[in-house]
Amino acid sequence: MSNTVTAGVFRPGTGLALEELNVAAPGPGLVEVELRATGVCHSDLHVLDGAWPAESPLVMGHEGAGVVRRIGKGVDQVTPGTHVVLSWFAPCRRCRNCAAGKAWLCTGTTALANTLPDGGSPFTDSSGARVDPYLGLGTFSGTVVVPESALVPVPEEIPFSVGALMGCSVTTGVGAVLNTATVRPGESAVVFGCGGVGLAVVMGLSLVGAGPIVAVDLSEERLERAREFGATVTLNPRTDDVAAVLQERFSGVDYAFEAIGNPGVISTLGSVLAPGGAAVLVGMTAVGATATIDPFDLADQGKRILGCNYGSSVAAVDVPRLARLFLDGKLPLDRLISSERPLGELSAAVEELRAGEGLRSVLVP
Ligand SMILES: NC(=O)c1ccc[n+]([C@@H]2O[C@H](COP(=O)([O-])OP(=O)(O)OC[C@H]3O[C@@H](n4cnc5c(N)ncnc54)[C@H](O)[C@@H]3O)[C@@H](O)[C@H]2O)c1
Ligand SMILES: [Zn+2]
Ligand SMILES: [Zn+2]
Repeated sequence: MSNTVTAGVFRPGTGLALEELNVAAPGPGLVEVELRATGVCHSDLHVLDGAWPAESPLVMGHEGAGVVRRIGKGVDQVTPGTHVVLSWFAPCRRCRNCAAGKAWLCTGTTALANTLPDGGSPFTDSSGARVDPYLGLGTFSGTVVVPESALVPVPEEIPFSVGALMGCSVTTGVGAVLNTATVRPGESAVVFGCGGVGLAVVMGLSLVGAGPIVAVDLSEERLERAREFGATVTLNPRTDDVAAVLQERFSGVDYAFEAIGNPGVISTLGSVLAPGGAAVLVGMTAVGATATIDPFDLADQGKRILGCNYGSSVAAVDVPRLARLFLDGKLPLDRLISSERPLGELSAAVEELRAGEGLRSVLVP
């Protein structure tokens, strides 16, 4: 039996609106999840703002957590009632990178094509036309049907709102520190952009005992949060010459995390690094954007550029680890959430993200 749900749908040309959709019952290998919380991430905004052009109507949203309701044939890792985090990078579990334990580089996933593994979608609109799930999930919906490999069971003590953030921003930000960069105690770092992703980078740096931890943002409110989460120095490009301060006070830093997706900022990263340092590209630019590097400086000073997709995370490994760190009080992930509101307030939550107000908004479908 199918379900009727209210969902946040983006249609190229007309934009984002709430619609009533039909969600098909879970077929083989698929799982129906009742969504209890979903975050609004800048990677949704990139689609809404046209930086990442969409060709088909999409149920937006890719940071979610909920409860398994029904399972399709062949599903054996979750049962109805299991609390789960939804990972937007459902790995195929068969390609060379999955076999090598690098699921974040999976070449067989259909998530990036916004479909289920068989190329289909569980969502149809009132006219019976197909609506695709963004990143294979479409979490701005009361119910989703997703591949089993997109789900990670988590303890019931994890609040759904925190679980939702583990679906993207937290796994990406903390993973950028632990997995992509493998920062060690006492190494120095700067984080450009203190939204949901950048603040998770700051928390990760604090967790591993990095220092100094410099946070950079245009918003004083977000810089204050960064200090609460472990930043030892905060800089605002509106008033500070960030590159000059980093070179003069610290002789450059070991790691420069970019968590905005701004080509202009990315072009400055090389100049803030100490010899041997690494720039970590976490923020995503518009498709086709380019940034400049100083190749002589990179070669001469042994500096590196690291791309960071999904915090180089394997959700099945990293999400349970993040859940334990949260339950042990070592990652105050609940403090990333500035508001919890009904899905009906989706437009207001998107506007807040666009304006850089508050921290992470979580919607309850
Ligand atoms: N690599 C990945 O797998 C991955 C995963 C999730 C998100 N992302 C990307 O990470 C980026 C951040 O996502 P988010 O949800 O945290 O976004 P966000 O909008 O919540 O945060 C961006 C922050 O950057 C700040 N900022 C903007 N311009 C700035 C500037 N010139 N200098 C300093 N600060 C500036 C804003 O004030 C804001 O606090 C996005 O590009 C998103 O697409 C990447
Ligand atoms: Zn995201
Ligand atoms: Zn794969």
